[in-house]
Amino acid sequence: MLKILVTGANGQVGAAVCQRALKMGMSVVWFDAKNLDLSDLAAIKTVVGKHKPKFVINCVSYSVVDLAEANPEEAYRINQEGAANIAQACADHAVPLLHLSTDYVFDGSEHLPINEQAQVAPVNIFGHSKAAGEDLVRAICPQHVILRVGWIFSSRGNNFVLRTLKQIRSQDEVMAVDDQFGCPTDAVDVARVLLAMIQQISCGIEVWGTYHYSGAEVVTWKGFAEAILASVKFQADTQAKAIVPVGSDEWQAAAPRPAFTVLDCKKILGTFGIRQRPWRSGLVKVINSLAYQAELNAINGDATNKDKGA
Ligand SMILES: NC(=O)c1ccc[n+]([C@@H]2O[C@H](COP(=O)([O-])OP(=O)(O)OC[C@H]3O[C@@H](n4cnc5c(N)ncnc54)[C@H](OP(=O)(O)O)[C@@H]3O)[C@@H](O)[C@H]2O)c1
Repeated sequence: MLKILVTGANGQVGAAVCQRALKMGMSVVWFDAKNLDLSDLAAIKTVVGKHKPKFVINCVSYSVVDLAEANPEEAYRINQEGAANIAQACADHAVPLLHLSTDYVFDGSEHLPINEQAQVAPVNIFGHSKAAGEDLVRAICPQHVILRVGWIFSSRGNNFVLRTLKQIRSQDEVMAVDDQFGCPTDAVDVARVLLAMIQQISCGIEVWGTYHYSGAEVVTWKGFAEAILASVKFQADTQAKAIVPVGSDEWQAAAPRPAFTVLDCKKILGTFGIRQRPWRSGLVKVINSLAYQAELNAINGDATNKDKGA
């Protein structure tokens, strides 16, 4: 049985990887921030040495782009030092590492799809800290895959879909930036890609290096918000009727964002045969699962109230 070790297992991608790997019959050892701090090199070396996985998938990240501007030490501690630590533990035990990175290592000024050879040029602290983490993974752990992905969403954690849904339900007007372009990516789809890569690598193909992956179809944040609104329109508690476009200059985010981070995904197709999936189908699944969860909560709340004699 193929054994994998997953760090950041409570995050969007980490949780999806664990669920999918278990369904595929893999043996999964997982760690979240509470039981394995990625800045603790000795602890990481111990768990990798103890469990002897065939692969490590690092899903840990300091991902709050705006907060990173005020907390650069914390962003670098997790995204650079943490990446170096896991790379060191993997190198010491000769275990291949799959490490996740981001489209935000680029400045997106070209308005063209960006391939793996393009020069990184981050425009914010988060992007700088992730690029620094990538460099150390490459330098320390020869058997590595760095997978840069686009805008991630899921039914958990802190992401654009959950924030937008909340606004759609409570505000008449929902604003979204209309001059930044990218490709939303379902966390479940990222898990599919990582595990497909692992299956092929474990069959003996040695294709270490950096790859790009994102969901198919380019949109702006406004376009993404419109897709979210369209998916929930049938729900009774939808207050907003339309998405209002705003420019990046009006948005006043703490961290600047790249304008166009569409990832060119030809290399992963050519090497692994992995095709981009449309993010819209993943979005519908996420929204349906949230609606189902809300219904369950309502039923359970009802039952609890009846138990209390309410
Ligand atoms: N989110 C996006 O839109 C996006 C876009 C492009 C690329 N990516 C990349 O994709 C990867 C996965 O992203 P994601 O959205 O799944 O991330 P996420 O949901 O923010 O999950 C990251 C996990 O890392 C954990 N963590 C933080 N500090 C840690 C530490 N010192 N030690 C151990 N664990 C720690 C967090 O634990 P807690 O839950 O306890 O804080 C969290 O569960 C990351 O490399 C990210 O940079 C993300």
